[in-house]
Amino acid sequence: MDRIQSILSVAGVGCFALAFVLSAVYPWAITSGTVTEATIAEVAERITPEFVDLAERYPAEFDRAHPGVREALTPQSVLADLGGSGDREAGLAAWREAHAKSLRRGRDIYVAEGCWHCHSQYVRPVSNEDIRFGPVSTWLQDNNALQRPVMWGTRRVGPDLTYEGGLRSNDWHAAHFWEPRNVSPGSVMPRFRWFFEEGFRLSRTIDPSIAERTGLAPETEYPIAGVYLTQADAEAARQRHIDALPSALRAEGERLNVTPARTLNSDGLSLIAYLQWLGTWQPTATSQED
Ligand code: HEC
Repeated sequence: MDRIQSILSVAGVGCFALAFVLSAVYPWAITSGTVTEATIAEVAERITPEFVDLAERYPAEFDRAHPGVREALTPQSVLADLGGSGDREAGLAAWREAHAKSLRRGRDIYVAEGCWHCHSQYVRPVSNEDIRFGPVSTWLQDNNALQRPVMWGTRRVGPDLTYEGGLRSNDWHAAHFWEPRNVSPGSVMPRFRWFFEEGFRLSRTIDPSIAERTGLAPETEYPIAGVYLTQADAEAARQRHIDALPSALRAEGERLNVTPARTLNSDGLSLIAYLQWLGTWQPTATSQED
C-alpha cells in the first residue's frame, strides 16, 4: 500500500513538473527568434468579411469606434477586387488600421472578462479533438503579437475557440452576449450586458397598401441599421434620409420614425471582430525565417 502511494505521489509530482516544463518550453520555443513573430498590423492585414459586415450592420456604432473609415472606402468596396488605385489603397490602409485597433481591443477584453477561464484556444492531438474543433494547433499559429500572452486557457467549460472566425454570424454573437440561452438552450455562459448601450434608431412603417394586401398590421415597422446615442443624432439621421429621397418618394419620409433601441457598444464590436478573426490568420504568409 505504502509503495503504491509513493509511486502515485512521484507520478503526480512528475506530471506536474512535465506540465510546468512544457508551459515554459513552448512559449520559449515560439519566441526564441527562429521565426519572426508577426505584429498586430500584419495579422490584421487581411480584413475579414465579418469585420466589413459589422460596419454595414452597425454603421453608427462603427463610426463612433472608427471615425472616417467608412468614408475613406465604402464597406461594399473593401472586399471587391477593384484594382489598386491610390485612393483605394489609402482607404484600405484606414480599414486595416481600424481592424488592428479592434483586434487589439477585442483581445484585451477577452483577457479582462476572463473568457479564457472557460474557453481554450488550443486543439490538442488527443481525444479526436480535431474532429470536433478543427486541425490540431501548431506553435506557428500562436507566433503573433495578439497571442501574447497565449490564450490556450486553463479549462474548457465552453468549446475551444481556435477556429471560431466565420463559424457564426455577427448577429449570433450579439444575441449570444445579450442572453446565451436564447441561442444556445441550457448554456451556462454568463450574460455580458455591459457590451450594449441604449440609444435611438430609425425604423420604417410599412406602406399602408402593402399592409392591406399582405394582411400585416399597419403599424408593422422595419428597423434601419445603426443606433444613435442621442435622440437629436437620430433625428438628424432621419433628416438625412429624407433629404436623400427622390421627390417622387417624399411620402416615404413620413413613415420614418425614431424609436428607442439597444445596440452593441464599441467593446462588443471589438470583441466580435476578434472572435471573427480567430483561426483566419495564415502564419506562413507573414512569418519569415531568419
Ligand atoms: C462560465 C464559463 C464561460 C465564460 C466565462 C464564457 N463562456 Fe463562452 N461559452 C460557455 C459555454 C458553456 C458555451 C457553450 C454554450 C453556448 O453556446 O452558450 C459557450 C459558448 C461560446 C461561444 C460559441 C462557440 C461556438 O461556436 O459554439 C462563443 C463564441 C463564446 N462562448 C465566447 C465567449 C466570450 C467572448 C467570453 C468572454 C466575454 C465567454 N465566452 C465567456 C461558457 C463560458
